[in-house]
Amino acid sequence: MTKNKLVIFDTTLRDGEQSPGASMTKEEKVRIAKILEKLRVDVIEAGFAIASPGDFAAVKAVAEAVSDSTVCSLARAVDADIDRAAEALKGAASARIHTFIATSPIHMKYKLKMSPEDVLQQASRAIKRARNYCDDVEFSLEDGSRSEFEFMCRITEEAIAAGASTINVPDTVGYGEPAEYGALFRRLIESVPNSDKAIFSTHCHNDLGLAVANSLSAVMNGVRQIECTINGLGERAGNAALEELVLAVRTRKDIFPVETQIDTQYIVPASRLVSTITGFPVQPNKAIVGANAFAHESGIHQDGVLKHRETYEIMRAEDVGWNTNKIVLGKHSGRAAVKARFEALGITFADPDLLSQAFARFKDLADKKHEIFDEDLQAIVSATQSELQVDTYALEHMEVCSKSGSKPSASLCLKVNGEIKKAEAEGGGPVDAAYKAIEKIVSSCADLQLYSVNAITQGTDSQGEVTVRLERDGHIVNGLGSDTDIVKASVKAYLHGLNCLQDAHQRHHPQRDGV
Ligand code: KIV
Ligand code: ZN
Repeated sequence: MTKNKLVIFDTTLRDGEQSPGASMTKEEKVRIAKILEKLRVDVIEAGFAIASPGDFAAVKAVAEAVSDSTVCSLARAVDADIDRAAEALKGAASARIHTFIATSPIHMKYKLKMSPEDVLQQASRAIKRARNYCDDVEFSLEDGSRSEFEFMCRITEEAIAAGASTINVPDTVGYGEPAEYGALFRRLIESVPNSDKAIFSTHCHNDLGLAVANSLSAVMNGVRQIECTINGLGERAGNAALEELVLAVRTRKDIFPVETQIDTQYIVPASRLVSTITGFPVQPNKAIVGANAFAHESGIHQDGVLKHRETYEIMRAEDVGWNTNKIVLGKHSGRAAVKARFEALGITFADPDLLSQAFARFKDLADKKHEIFDEDLQAIVSATQSELQVDTYALEHMEVCSKSGSKPSASLCLKVNGEIKKAEAEGGGPVDAAYKAIEKIVSSCADLQLYSVNAITQGTDSQGEVTVRLERDGHIVNGLGSDTDIVKASVKAYLHGLNCLQDAHQRHHPQRDGV
């Protein structure tokens, strides 16, 4: 079968970031973008440049840091958005402007309060404006799967004539069903006279758990670009998961008429990095990247796999980046070995001082823990990055006491804007006591919405990774902390969350804030 190229458009940094609490700093976005580039993703949607000065800076930084993938910014179909996107993308080796407007009757009437005719005019104008800045312009018919077919044909034809080379028909609310969504593309491609001048694209949300199935059905019906995210991160139930799509197409070569250029060995490292940075853990039974995805529990399965691997395995764990950490690092490992392992994980340090700091942390951890795994290295990088920020709250010293027969207590010493403050508290457990002591000092008024602890690797000497989700005045942030002492990891996570809340700023939401 002759294979067509399937363009992989990753929107982890834009739609993924729209998940509550998943917001990322500019440095974190660049780290994720670098691993997406190693994955050989075709297009990286780095953000929504007009959302805030921070979002603009992040799109710009990604555009400047990446050279092998096209970097894209989202823009509503209005002049200001398009100009801002173009400005942020100036330094990109290859840039794309992705502009969109809603086309379903319900969105046009209630959200945009615009007539279909006006929507059509606005789309065409925005595409032409974007084309003045770059050759690569994508147009999305927001809520496309609930739009009227005749209108979709008109606006698609007009968009291509105005200069859009990619036409994306999102299933914005996750309402589509595979056969219906696939048929919609076939009909659209057949009905629009200039459809051969554009690549058609999917963008599916997972509200009914059908995002991957819908995207693949569209591929069987002529689509040649898929928009997706690492771990399926995204608004509400998320977007179609990149790892599932790529492996489906690759494993079922006999069915899918397409191939991607993804270097699959970076899939697991990318999944871990996104999970660590956003604080969204990966469920153990998640396809491809879950801890159990390749684990064979039952005796019959194990026996079969040992006799002949293909009896139960349709993919090889090592092909997607599992079990690649054969070189176990320890306290005798030198800087060169550690640097090489970081690089294999897609992590490079532009500044040699950063590598030195990460190496010092590595040595410190290796004193406490016998073997250092890839997951530990990822946590070290996150900790090194967050140390660079000037924090309002920093831990100076802590003492916790948890004794049978007495109430757990904690005594904490924090640096608050450079000033030392102390407090003591009792609680239901040591973490509760420590959090109460922190609150005595900071009185944050933040609501703790989630607290979770994961062991980063196996064994009782593993680092505990703690995620907290805090909410205040409508801002939601995730705080992360890791340490071989889980109470300390919990305190670090809480302080990280509080520091993020200090930085939380108002930003526009591309779809909810009107044009
Ligand atoms: O879900 C959606 O419709 C989107 C568009 C902005 C592409 O994210
Ligand atoms: Zn979306």
